[in-house]
Amino acid sequence: MAKRVLVSGGAGYIGSHVTVELIAAGYDVVVADNMSNCDMTCFEGVRKITGRDDIPFEQIDCCDAAAVEKLFTDYQIDAVIHFAAFKAVGESVAKPIMYYRNNLVSFLNILESAGRHGGCNVLFSSSATVYGEAEDLPVTEKTPRLPATSPYGNTKQMCEDILRDVVAATASSQGVIKGIALRYFNPIGAHPSALIGELPRGVPNNLVPFITQTAIGKRECLSIFGNDYPTEDGTCLRDYIDIVDLAKAHVAAVSRMLDGKMKEGYEIFNIGTGRPVSVYELVTAFEKVNGLKLNYRFVDRRPGDVMAIWADTSLANEELGWKAERTVEETLASAWAWEKHLAGK
Ligand code: UFG
Repeated sequence: MAKRVLVSGGAGYIGSHVTVELIAAGYDVVVADNMSNCDMTCFEGVRKITGRDDIPFEQIDCCDAAAVEKLFTDYQIDAVIHFAAFKAVGESVAKPIMYYRNNLVSFLNILESAGRHGGCNVLFSSSATVYGEAEDLPVTEKTPRLPATSPYGNTKQMCEDILRDVVAATASSQGVIKGIALRYFNPIGAHPSALIGELPRGVPNNLVPFITQTAIGKRECLSIFGNDYPTEDGTCLRDYIDIVDLAKAHVAAVSRMLDGKMKEGYEIFNIGTGRPVSVYELVTAFEKVNGLKLNYRFVDRRPGDVMAIWADTSLANEELGWKAERTVEETLASAWAWEKHLAGK
């Protein structure tokens, strides 16, 4: 019988791409989402791509302990991938309690029910934000985490630590929980089918949706935040990781847990490409690959931005047998195809 993976937050941007790849790899999936930051567009897209309209979908809030417990009673769950969380850095600064409550309580409920039902493998979606403004680049998993600069970033650090501690506490008992934290760099792009992709509500915070919305005419002009950084072209450097490549890393990590291949009860992997790309380079590549001109201007730096961050991915490459494959051009073409799909073009 196929192993079943619970994908919390599975109707969102990353969750929907991961669901597609899990199904392609032969796993059964149950998707749980409270739909607080998405609609059914991506889940419908997942059904179309996989040709499976029987994927179980549970509209629940993971902060509701009874609802999470019922999920674990109704389904035999072998692994959980936990995405259900708020993710806007600026909003988290304005509404810290909302962020701490949502992001911590939902994860605690999952861990508690997992333990109660005989243990489970838990994959936590973490972020390169835990490294802050690192001195030595690229960052490895051993690079020290720096104090978080936002409640959002703090919830990522706290959830990593919670998972580590829960694994340590259960290791010797029957309810074994094994854990992996994947630290994502900057996920961008969309599925090659253009049936699922990023669906920001309101004005996008992130670069690529802002670029595609400007190109389609929804936004007048892209503001590039800062061209006076001490980098080659003066703009920030990031490690942009294709969303399908990122999704495949989750399958590799889940298989590692389920196939008993983990070397420790709790493991951490950087998920990026290992290549720094500047904001200006990304904008230029978008224009070139899609054959269009983007309206942009340089403005002041955005408070809170780090100048540069990119991943050393050797651990994920070696241990997960995973590597980012799509080029940034392919990824930017997919992001544009998705924006056009949304516009019905
Ligand atoms: N940028 C612009 N204009 C925009 C949006 C972004 O110039 O309209 C620039 C930013 O200044 C930054 C780069 O594009 O240099 C990438 O910005 P994003 O907002 O797309 O991504 P971040 O690197 O800021 O954010 C990522 C994750 C967050 C995480 C954060 C921590 O998306 O979840 O890293 O640093 F919290």
